[in-house]
Amino acid sequence: MRLAVCPGSFDPVTLGHLDIISRAARLFDEVIVLVSFNPYKSNYSFTPEERMDLARRATAHLPNVTVDCDDGLLAEYVKKKQACAIVKGLRAVSDFEYEFQMSLANKKMFPGAETIFFTTDAGNMYLSSSLVKNIASLGGDISDFVPGCILEDIQQRLFPKQR
Ligand code: PNS
Repeated sequence: MRLAVCPGSFDPVTLGHLDIISRAARLFDEVIVLVSFNPYKSNYSFTPEERMDLARRATAHLPNVTVDCDDGLLAEYVKKKQACAIVKGLRAVSDFEYEFQMSLANKKMFPGAETIFFTTDAGNMYLSSSLVKNIASLGGDISDFVPGCILEDIQQRLFPKQR
């Protein structure tokens, strides 16, 4: 059984993430979307439970995808699950240096898994959770950026109609 882990903050999950997850689900038998902790990010808008719930609903149509959460080392999680791959999306050259460093560190800590980078769909190159949060918090339309089934929850949280 070929298992891949797609880690990320998913704060919240976007259509860019969903594209990467869907493509991974076509290549691997099972995919775990792992809501992880990024020590360089301190201002999460959604709790880990909320991020998991949004990711679960966004991937409900993908039968071989499950969602989990972990606040430890990614390499330890991947080893524990005996996954053979860590799947990440690359949007731009500027993502590469940091991702390259993490992939080497993860390989050192758990040589049993390969990090595989998927190039983003050209239409999603500019898309990020931060951009979505910025637009939504100012009342902008994010319907082209996040899955429709979680749109209202994200909007309501970031730009409540009754403030
Ligand atoms: O969506 P993000 O914030 O870019 O994802 C980064 C993430 C969460 C995948 C990364 O910070 C991570 O792997 N965190 C888990 C902790 C860990 O293993 N740190 C060492 C990485 S070499």
